[in-house]
Amino acid sequence: MLWWALLCASLQAQTARTVLEGVYTDAQAVRGQTAYQVNCSMCHRDEPLWPGVHAPPKGVVLDDPENIRRHARLIEINAVRSHAMPPGNITDMTPQERQILAAWIAAGAPAQ
Ligand code: HEC
Repeated sequence: MLWWALLCASLQAQTARTVLEGVYTDAQAVRGQTAYQVNCSMCHRDEPLWPGVHAPPKGVVLDDPENIRRHARLIEINAVRSHAMPPGNITDMTPQERQILAAWIAAGAPAQ
């Protein structure tokens, strides 16, 4: 009967977990953060690194999880639902990267 008790315990442990308790894995967080860093961070920071961009575009600074969460809706509109960002898809962002970015923001833009 021990196996039965163990099975019940492990099933209980599985069903007790929710998205808020960390089902979104560290590996996913790394991928999300990378998608953002490679495609957005060089322009949307206090001192943009992109040649010709001298201030954060439209004042949108996305340099920490709090800022990213605050702009989550605009990010979704510009980089997930539409492809307005990055401008002219200058970084060749793929549809898959856009989904990864969306999931990362939905999970609260966890930093590593
Ligand atoms: C090459 C520089 C550059 C990159 C890379 C870039 N942006 Fe932008 N972003 C801009 C510029 C320029 C504007 C202002 C566009 C305008 O005036 O209409 C802007 C505007 C925005 C806005 C504000 C839109 C609004 O309606 O107020 C958001 C949100 C945004 N970008 C998110 C992102 C996200 C998310 C990424 C990455 C997926 C990204 N941007 C990558 C240059 C960039």
